[in-house]
Amino acid sequence: MKFTLSEEHLMIRQAARDFAQNECKPGVIERDTHMTWPAEQVKRMAELGFLGMMVSPEYGGGGLDALSYVIAMEEISKIDASCSVLMSVNNSLVCWGLETFGSEEQKRKYLVPLAKGEKIGAFCLSEPEAGSDATSQSTTAVDMGDHYILNGTKNWITNGGCASTYLVIAQTHPEKGHKGINVLIVEKGMPGFQVAKKEDKLGIRASDTHSLLFNDVKVPKENRIGEDGFGFKFAMKTLAGGRIGIAAQALGIAAGAYEMAAAYSKQRRAFKTEIINHQAVAFKLADMATQIEAARLLVYKAAVLKDQHKNYDIASATAKLFASEVAMRTTVEAVQIHGGYGYVKEYHVERLMRDAKITQIYEGTSEVQRIVISRGILA
Ligand code: CAA
Repeated sequence: MKFTLSEEHLMIRQAARDFAQNECKPGVIERDTHMTWPAEQVKRMAELGFLGMMVSPEYGGGGLDALSYVIAMEEISKIDASCSVLMSVNNSLVCWGLETFGSEEQKRKYLVPLAKGEKIGAFCLSEPEAGSDATSQSTTAVDMGDHYILNGTKNWITNGGCASTYLVIAQTHPEKGHKGINVLIVEKGMPGFQVAKKEDKLGIRASDTHSLLFNDVKVPKENRIGEDGFGFKFAMKTLAGGRIGIAAQALGIAAGAYEMAAAYSKQRRAFKTEIINHQAVAFKLADMATQIEAARLLVYKAAVLKDQHKNYDIASATAKLFASEVAMRTTVEAVQIHGGYGYVKEYHVERLMRDAKITQIYEGTSEVQRIVISRGILA
């Protein structure tokens, strides 16, 4: 067991840190306020290879390991979690799902532009009545022989407006329950597909979250990923990896808030000294640093298990559960350390506190992670 990063991992960390500091930080408050999608940053993420990091070079990706990916996710999330969620969905849900389970034709047609960042992908599972209970899909994909007819509504879809390629989970054989679910590749512009309401969110406000409507959308059969009925397993396997990315995002949000609070407490004076000299503040920082380090080890462990092709279902749920709770606690304490300054936008920590909350909700709530972990204990 090594606790040091390789030269290559350190270089990736530096590249992601430079990108976040120099290209995400300027304008991050304005993008958050006005819910502005980070078009310039996405272009640069594509150029820097952050949108298809783990995809094989054969399909236009960086061919990097999952550890590299979580290292980059942490750095970008320290500054801009709206950019990092876009990156996470494209990398771990859409590109990974297509590369692992897609046909050669699907990879050539859809994965290559996604991995290069020429196009953006979205993963469409959640519905008005199916969030944590993902088997209860109301969206239907009726088998018409050489195509499916897709009908239904998806909610809270990250990259919903900016994406071109959508992986849509839908029920084909309701009598078979989760074994009757399929996953279809839907392209923006297919007749009957409509990007609907944009959500006005508490946090990650610059990320593009929409409802999607499917009204008799004709999807060719060759756009189904895997065998008939593979859709639910596809979703579960893909989300298990996605949770590593969101755990890294939570880690980054926590680490970003901690770094700001530590720097602030070394320069802010009260009662005749820098506030870090007050044990009430120093102990908060000590707790934050300890929890962040523990979260980082869990995130790295899940990523390394994935790189070693070992089962990471429980490790990813554990990392996401812990890191997202650390993100929430740490950002609240960072606001507290900043006092009144923490409550205004200029100091960034209030935004990180708002951004932290979603990491306990998307890609499975904390309760879903506890279901996955406790089932592992019972097994
Ligand atoms: N790998 C492979 N197969 C898996 C699996 C995994 N990790 N997890 C479950 N399965 C399989 C099971 O083996 C079972 O198959 P069999 O019947 O053949 O044995 C099947 O899937 C059903 O499994 P469960 O009985 O465990 O299913 P469940 O209904 O009890 O649900 C759950 C379990 C963990 C709660 C699951 O529904 C779940 O993960 N829900 C949360 C969904 C979620 O994360 N939604 C987020 C939306 S996506 C998002 O947020 C993206 C974004 O935009 C940022």
